[in-house]
Amino acid sequence: MTLRPMRWEGGALMMLDQRVLPGRTEWLRLTTWQEVHDAIRDMAVRGAPAIGVAAGYGMALAALAGQNLEEVHKGLAASRPTAVNLFWALDRISGLQTSDFDTLLAEAKAIEAEDLQANLDMARHGAPLIPQNAKILTVCNTGSLATAGHGTALGIIRTAHADGKNIFVYSCETRPRQQGLRLTAYELTVEKIPFKSIVDGAAASLMRAGEVDCVIAGADRIAANGDAANKIGTYSLAVLAKHHGIPFYIAAPTSTFDVTLADGDGIPIEERDASEILENEGGLVGPANCPVWNPGFDVTPGELISAIVTEKGLFRPPYDFKSDGLK
Ligand code: MRU
Repeated sequence: MTLRPMRWEGGALMMLDQRVLPGRTEWLRLTTWQEVHDAIRDMAVRGAPAIGVAAGYGMALAALAGQNLEEVHKGLAASRPTAVNLFWALDRISGLQTSDFDTLLAEAKAIEAEDLQANLDMARHGAPLIPQNAKILTVCNTGSLATAGHGTALGIIRTAHADGKNIFVYSCETRPRQQGLRLTAYELTVEKIPFKSIVDGAAASLMRAGEVDCVIAGADRIAANGDAANKIGTYSLAVLAKHHGIPFYIAAPTSTFDVTLADGDGIPIEERDASEILENEGGLVGPANCPVWNPGFDVTPGELISAIVTEKGLFRPPYDFKSDGLK
């Protein structure tokens, strides 16, 4: 285990600031739930499972300060709308019906430890899907940084590599926040897994050239019928994979499932600020006041997903997670 996005230390939540990686390694010391809220909203921490873990610690910080936990629950829930792990973790903490700090801190730590274990189990179930000499396409960052450790889709890739499979990864840049270029490329470099970064628009040509044996992505929320929300652009990859006859897999822990939703139409899709598209570090790129549409996520229909890998095993279409009693 080389990278961890956060740790509890000395009565505070130490959080690796993912906004400045890989150029700078800076740790934020968060001591209030509002700081945790802002870190989630501004994406200092991101990735569905990591957001859930952070929210758990945010509740513990509020308990330490003797704050109204019902209000804090609502406040943290307003940080980002799509990843259901956030709401799952908050419900789990609130479900304890106590404001005792030690109890809440222990639960937050349990959420973190269970996510790490889930990722290791998921990787065991998913690694056999990766053939020897596979060229794998992935999107966004689903690795150690997006979770309590190891990762979901990237965790499977990491385990396949550790198992001695001669794999090669193509990592989509992932516009506009470039989690693929900044974070996945960073993790693959640290892990010494051979890879190339591509711009998102290169995926079709890559598949047509026979350079992709499978696609693996993570998820932020999976409905009862297998429809899966993930980083914007994932749906395009699934359609492309179908066209080229390439298997398309989703990897996610059961904390990412929302079986209260019959299908993906009910998944709230975050719309983010225009500046993410219009600006780069050099300043404004588009015309001033350029209108943009900037959804953070899209929904891949379950029928396009060859298998969903969880810590409990593999599921194949047609998906019916409500009857499976997954949660
Ligand atoms: O906007 P982000 O960076 O939080 O989006 C992250 C993703 O879309 C991931 O693929 C998803 O959360 C799964 S992370 C294991």
